[in-house]
Amino acid sequence: MSTLRLEDLKQYSDTLRTRRGEAINVRFVQPRDTEELQHYFRSLSTRSRYNRFFGAISELPKGLLDDFLQVGERERFTVVATKMVDGFETIVAEARYAFHVETSTLEFGLSVDDRWQGHGIATALMKNLECRAAALGAEHMFGDTLRSNETMISLARKSGFAFVNHPDDWKLVRFDKEIAVAPKDIPCASWRLAALSRQADSPSASA
Ligand SMILES: CC(C)(COP(=O)(O)OP(=O)(O)OC[C@H]1O[C@@H](n2cnc3c(N)ncnc32)[C@H](O)[C@@H]1OP(=O)(O)O)[C@@H](O)C(=O)NCCC(=O)NCCS
Repeated sequence: MSTLRLEDLKQYSDTLRTRRGEAINVRFVQPRDTEELQHYFRSLSTRSRYNRFFGAISELPKGLLDDFLQVGERERFTVVATKMVDGFETIVAEARYAFHVETSTLEFGLSVDDRWQGHGIATALMKNLECRAAALGAEHMFGDTLRSNETMISLARKSGFAFVNHPDDWKLVRFDKEIAVAPKDIPCASWRLAALSRQADSPSASA
């Protein structure tokens, strides 16, 4: 069961930095993002959308869009990474993750706006996801990518993931990483809030 206090989603927001030091805000998606999120996916290049969803789609089908807007339901979450562009908060990346309680694993997929690729956003976002995974109690995190997706494979390798064959689909490769230590070096609000909630649950531990 998730210990997130979903009534106040804003508190789980984090600020990340691009390689050049620009601030990127990462927060849970909200209902007000519906149009902007769909616009984001429509604006991705055909190739990026194909790599993200392993198939040709021009936008999120209604059912999938509804899923993306659900935060916390069945331990599934969507975060958007936003940046102020010409005074407007603009989505530049997204990630959807699911916490599998029975295996203590976090499964994720992500994408970055084509105009913002190569700026280190996915690297920073994956570190942030690692922290969010640890806060949920995950021991491993993993994702699937097409074997042809050299960018994702290179990114996963650099981020410390190991590769295994996908159990069901030869076109995919699975990348997996153990979350061995408390990620103190990659603090995120989820981690701090989970630690506070653990302290509140067992006050004697902090005495
Ligand atoms: C894969 C993806 C998320 C990477 O995002 P990004 O923000 O551009 O990645 P980063 O800038 O953090 O790059 C990190 C590493 O990825 C690799 N990489 C990035 N762009 C690359 C490219 N065009 N070709 C090959 N490798 C590339 C490099 O190893 C890079 O490290 P380096 O800059 O030190 O060489 C992005 O390309 C994307 O959204 N693709 C479409 C969706 C997708 O493929 N999702 C993955 C499956 S779920």
